[in-house]
Amino acid sequence: MNVLGIETTCDETAAAIVTVEEDGRGAILSNEVLSQIAEHAAYGGVVPEIAARAHVEVLDRLIARALANAGMALADLDGIAVAAGPGLIGGVLVGLVTGKTLALVSRKPLVAVNHLEAHALTARLTDGLAFPYLLLLASGGHTQLVAVKGVGEYVRLGGTIDDAIGEAFDKVAKLLGLAYPGGPEVERAAEGGNPERFALPRPMLGRREPNFSLSGLKTALRIEAERIAPLTHQDVADLCASFQAAVVDVVVDRVRVALRDFGPVAGHPTALVAAGGVAANGALRRALAYQAGEAGLPLVAPPLPLCGDNGAMIAWAGIERLRLGLTDDITAPARPRWPFAQAKDIPQAKDVAQVSAWADGRTAG
Ligand code: KG4
Ligand code: ZN
Repeated sequence: MNVLGIETTCDETAAAIVTVEEDGRGAILSNEVLSQIAEHAAYGGVVPEIAARAHVEVLDRLIARALANAGMALADLDGIAVAAGPGLIGGVLVGLVTGKTLALVSRKPLVAVNHLEAHALTARLTDGLAFPYLLLLASGGHTQLVAVKGVGEYVRLGGTIDDAIGEAFDKVAKLLGLAYPGGPEVERAAEGGNPERFALPRPMLGRREPNFSLSGLKTALRIEAERIAPLTHQDVADLCASFQAAVVDVVVDRVRVALRDFGPVAGHPTALVAAGGVAANGALRRALAYQAGEAGLPLVAPPLPLCGDNGAMIAWAGIERLRLGLTDDITAPARPRWPFAQAKDIPQAKDVAQVSAWADGRTAG
C-alpha cells in the first residue's frame, strides 16, 4: 500500500509517500517539507493570507518531487491522504482541493485526515507502537493529554485552558526579541542560562485534573523581564532557562496525573508518547524519558523531522484509516476547528480565575 500525504494546515507545505511493508510496518519513501518561516519571520508569527498563497505557489511541485523521489507515478498510489484541518482555513483549502483533484483524476480513494490525529499516530509509523498509549500532544496550537485506544478512539484526559505550550514558547521568544518560531530559539538560549535565577510559577502543579495553564507563566516572565530591563545576553539566557524549567516541571506533573487517570479509561499503556513540535525540545524529552522510566514505560518521541508538521504523518494516518476501510469523498469539508479526541472533562471558569490569581502572585513551587 502506497499513500501520498499532503500537509498545508499551517506554515509548512509538505508532501510525502509512505508505504506499508510485509510486516505491516510503515516506511517513508519520500518526505518533502518546505517551511515558510522566512516569509512570516518579519511579522513574528504566521500570517494566514501569506501562508495560503505560499502553499499554492509550491504544492504542485512539491508533490511531483515526493513522487519522483519515491520512484513513483500517481498510478502507483493506493490512496491520497490530505490534512483537512484543524488549521488556517486558506491553507487547508489549498491542500484539500489539491488532494481531491488528484484523487478524482487518478480514481484513487481519498482520506481527509485530522492533523492532530496524524501527530497522535506518528509513533506507530516510527516505532510500530501498539495501542493503547498515553499521548502528550504539544504544538503551536494544541496542548492535550490523550488516551489513544485505537484508530479513531481518543479520550482527552486534559489540556490547556489558555495558551498552547508551543504558543507560550513563541510568545516568550517574541517578548525577549528572539526569532520566530520561538521554541527552538528559547531552547538554544536556555542552554547558557541559569534555570534557578527567576522563581517563575508552576501553574496547575498538583491539580487533580491533568490540565495546563500557560498564560500566567508567560505574564510572570514578562514582569521579570520588565523589572530588570534593559536585558543583557545573560539575562535573556537566564529567563529562557527559568521559563523552560517551569514548563518542564509542569508537564512532568501533568503527565504524572494523566498516567494515574489512564488506567480506568484505557487499561495499561504500552508507552508514553510525545508528539507535536514541542516534542522536539531536548530538556522536555529528557525529563519525560526519566519519568516514563520511573513508570516502567518507554518514552516514544518521533525523530526531530517528524515532530514538526510533515507529510509522512498525514500519509501514515491515511494508511491507518484506509486499512479500516475509512475513506472520504469529494464533499469532505475543510475544518478550521476539528477536535479529534472526545472530552472527558471540561474545566470550569472558576479554575481559570484561580489559576490567574495564583500566577499573578507568582508563587513558585
Ligand atoms: O506541530 P508544529 O510543527 O505545528 C503546529 O501544528 O503547531 O509545532 C510548532 C510549535 C511552535 O510553537 C514551536 O515554537 C514549537 O512547536 N517548537 C518548540 C521546539 N521546536 C518547535 N518548542 C519548544 N522547544 C523546541 N525545541
Ligand atoms: Zn502540527
